[in-house]
Amino acid sequence: MKPLNKDLDKKKNVIEKYNSTSSFYDSRYSEIQKEKYKILFRNCNLNYKTILDAGCGTGLSIEFFSNLNINNLKKKVKYIGIDISWKMLMNFCDKSKKIKDINLILGDIENLPLRENSFNVIFSITSLQNLPVIKKGLGEIIRVGQKDSLLKLSVLRKQLKVDDLTAYLKTHTTDLKTEFLDNIEDVFIQGSLNKH
Ligand SMILES: C[S@@+](CC[C@H](N)C(=O)[O-])C[C@H]1O[C@@H](n2cnc3c(N)ncnc32)[C@H](O)[C@@H]1O
Repeated sequence: MKPLNKDLDKKKNVIEKYNSTSSFYDSRYSEIQKEKYKILFRNCNLNYKTILDAGCGTGLSIEFFSNLNINNLKKKVKYIGIDISWKMLMNFCDKSKKIKDINLILGDIENLPLRENSFNVIFSITSLQNLPVIKKGLGEIIRVGQKDSLLKLSVLRKQLKVDDLTAYLKTHTTDLKTEFLDNIEDVFIQGSLNKH
């Protein structure tokens, strides 16, 4: 079988997996995801930002933020969430009425339907490990980010080549920071995009 078909099969499986688990995703994962947001978003000021959430799922991350500071979010933040599972997005839609400037896209991180240099914060939390070719997704994230935009990523460590990933990101970022915690199965990677 050609690699392209293998990648498409992997993507189809991912879509089926998240479509079929979306109804209990929040009850099963919201507490652990919250712990990850606390780590990635400590000391993070999102005022006046255009945010991309790549693999946004049911919107737990922006929900976490809106609970922290709903007034600022309403006034100054533009949020775009993209996900490949329409059922995860439907769950997000039900919640998104609470927050004003939210746009959701059904799409693929490896082929972002977005213009280059459009965002100044990009999150991707526990999503990139699902991609057939993580560097392709990272390339897309880098393309749509502006110079100096904040990258806030967490990726499941299981079977991940962390050194490869950080070596690739180092060439596109400044202040790249990688963090591992015993009780959390993701690696946290943060930095600012270094574009000319
Ligand atoms: C573990 S969930 C994390 C969701 C959310 N970031 C959170 O913190 O709860 C992984 C998400 O990545 C999405 N995903 C997987 N592969 C994707 C792709 N190629 N493009 C866009 N989203 C993808 C899945 O549909 C799922 O919603």
